[in-house]
Amino acid sequence: MARIFVTRRLADGALERLAAAHDVEVWPEPRPPARDELAARARSAQGLLTMVSDPVDAPLIEACPELRAVANYAVGSDNIDLEAAAARGIRVGVTPDVLTDATADLTWTLLLAAARRLPEGVEAVRSGAWRAWEPAGFLGLELRGATLGVVGLGRIGRAVAERAPGFGMTVIHTSRSGGVALEELLERADVVSLHCPLTPQTQHLLGERAFRRMKRSAILLNTARGAIVDQAALVDALRRGGIAAAALDVTDPEPPAPGDPILRAPNLLLLPHVGSATHTARARMAQIAEENLLAALDGRPMPFPAGASSGPARPRA
Ligand code: DGY
Repeated sequence: MARIFVTRRLADGALERLAAAHDVEVWPEPRPPARDELAARARSAQGLLTMVSDPVDAPLIEACPELRAVANYAVGSDNIDLEAAAARGIRVGVTPDVLTDATADLTWTLLLAAARRLPEGVEAVRSGAWRAWEPAGFLGLELRGATLGVVGLGRIGRAVAERAPGFGMTVIHTSRSGGVALEELLERADVVSLHCPLTPQTQHLLGERAFRRMKRSAILLNTARGAIVDQAALVDALRRGGIAAAALDVTDPEPPAPGDPILRAPNLLLLPHVGSATHTARARMAQIAEENLLAALDGRPMPFPAGASSGPARPRA
């Protein structure tokens, strides 16, 4: 029987199989464990079930001599130092596929909301600033005929692109194996949507030069990772009207500190990292994290290891 530390409460019953086979401790508070609290609980654990917000970095790995497996409750693994884990023979797993549709749907929620200036309209009605129907009031982007630029054609990027024909949008994309160059995509797209993983190569992929390439009428969407965008450059682009709007599910850091300029940027819609937040996706993520841990602690390969381009075929959520 192994000792497992789970860094956040999951839905009731989500970890039943794990608890039946192992000694499972769940972080009891609604806030995430601080660094030292995580290290203290993880120190004697053989398995960890972590969230995107838990840094499983080299010092933490070093502080956990018995650790054999980390199951991240996420498709991304950028919160984990994969090299440090591999050097110790620690297996790392993620939860691909099952949150693809939820995240693609949320991307379209943001797209539609930003294109039709929903936050401004809602605020105008609530505050009483809206007085009458106006021919030129709250004009937004007509989607039919507009171009959607998908940066990163992995599972989620592809699912976002698949939804575009229903709205009459043309899709262009960048990907490791083809598509157009990022510069061309930024110049042509009416909506730029980010779907690449966060790596040293994609950190601040969109900075000042990128925003200067984009159309002044363009909308930026980010449901991937906050640090793919240089946030100071984004705030500047929004303030000077370099782009029309942005709608983000992710920021850098999360949550933004109270005085962070991103919170006061104009034409910006911000959500609290809820791309995968459907009942179905989160239940399946728990199932996969559980399968990953059970396998690794049993000495078998994880069914969904981090870094694999795709795991075994699984019906889409
Ligand atoms: C992920 O899975 O990587 C998301 O960002 C959290 O659901």
